[in-house]
Amino acid sequence: MQLISLSVRWLAVGCLLLLAGCQSSDFDLQLQQQAEGVTLLQLSSEGGFVLPAIPDENPLTDAKITLGRFLFYDPRLSANQTQSCESCHFQALAFTDGKAVPTGSTGEALVRNSQTLTNVAYNATYTWWNPIFTRIELQLAMPLTGDTPAELGINDANLAAILQRFRSDTVYQTLFANAFPTATDPFTLTNITRALASFTRTMISDRSPYDRNELSDSARRGEALFFSEALECFHCHNGFNFSSSTITTNTRFPERPFFNTGLYNIDNQGSYPSDNTGKYQVTGDWNDMGAFRPPTLRNIELTAPYMHDGSIATLAAVVDFYAAGGRNLTAGAYRGDGRNNPYKSSFVNGFDLTAADKTDLINFLHSLTDQEFISDDRFANPFE
Ligand code: HEC
Ligand code: HEC
Repeated sequence: MQLISLSVRWLAVGCLLLLAGCQSSDFDLQLQQQAEGVTLLQLSSEGGFVLPAIPDENPLTDAKITLGRFLFYDPRLSANQTQSCESCHFQALAFTDGKAVPTGSTGEALVRNSQTLTNVAYNATYTWWNPIFTRIELQLAMPLTGDTPAELGINDANLAAILQRFRSDTVYQTLFANAFPTATDPFTLTNITRALASFTRTMISDRSPYDRNELSDSARRGEALFFSEALECFHCHNGFNFSSSTITTNTRFPERPFFNTGLYNIDNQGSYPSDNTGKYQVTGDWNDMGAFRPPTLRNIELTAPYMHDGSIATLAAVVDFYAAGGRNLTAGAYRGDGRNNPYKSSFVNGFDLTAADKTDLINFLHSLTDQEFISDDRFANPFE
């Protein structure tokens, strides 16, 4: 896979080994852009994060990130000019929207919860459910041009008019020219996608109390519970990003895990609601029924309601759900005992927790809240 681009250090080693190749200006440009990208990410010293993998065809540059930031906050990107990316991804909520499920620009309800963009550069796959979207550039087709349901509502019929909005704006003339200096016509959907992907990749959150090693005694006890074999959380929410679905420049054998956690069991044969079957929707394999990607738990305090469909309101209720080993719905169209879902992961088994333990575990999760991230000017609306 092209996914894993080389870090600056490895490019430098490659340079020594392949002296001839290093003469090429393409290589020099790539090296320079990689170096710029590393600087631009501004990883903290406390967090100790490894660099994210940046696709070779879309190296991070300051100019692309700047363009992406303007586009992210600009409603002119939606066909009817009513929504921007921000409509569902607010910085104050770690780029979620506080709703169970959002509504797109044409008024259609989406079936899944708006995802946090916290550390999105590191995810092994994108969206809650899809194993095929292995980079942000692929996923962005959904909000930009998806039509079932529509989000921003770009299509073949309106694309030229939408691009013209930017082509005729003097601010964007400079931004696009700087971001794509060698293009004769930089105003393309591909370039918009690359700029948006570059901007979202810089949304790195590594300055929480957890990163600074500033945990209260209660949070410290909660940390021990989180990493215990009794609770099993760490099997799926592990590593610096608290997700087993993480890829960095050090990853040699990428894993793209998906799990059924026992939220539903509609017919007592394991079914999830038909519009939200998880990875099964792509593979058609019953072993993937209800299997979703383990999300990061960073900034989890800010991103309620929880799960792919926003069906759990609070963190306390999420802990109760895991303690019960799944969810038993006794009424409604989705009734069924998720605790007995045949496709449920063996790591979700239930456990006993005292009220004090529960408080400790939640305090630990709160220690992953990064106040600098949600007030960082680099990610804020440039029009304000
Ligand atoms: C109408 C609401 C809405 C709009 C507008 C929207 N998003 Fe999203 N976003 C979502 C939802 C819902 C998901 C989860 C999708 C899924 O699982 O199918 C998501 C997922 C994502 C993801 C994947 C995150 C991950 O961890 O896998 C990225 C990246 C993203 N959005 C960026 C953007 C960008 C950039 C824009 C603007 C072009 C945008 N979104 C516009 C609602 C929205
Ligand atoms: C078998 C793997 C697995 C284990 C074990 C596990 N999780 Fe999860 N977790 C997931 C998956 C997958 C999701 C998303 C499920 C969905 O949306 O259907 C999730 C979702 C969550 C969410 C909601 C995230 C959001 O953005 O809405 C929280 C909070 C959470 N888990 C905390 C925990 C805690 C605390 C534990 C230990 C008690 C734990 N998890 C154990 C896989 C796991």
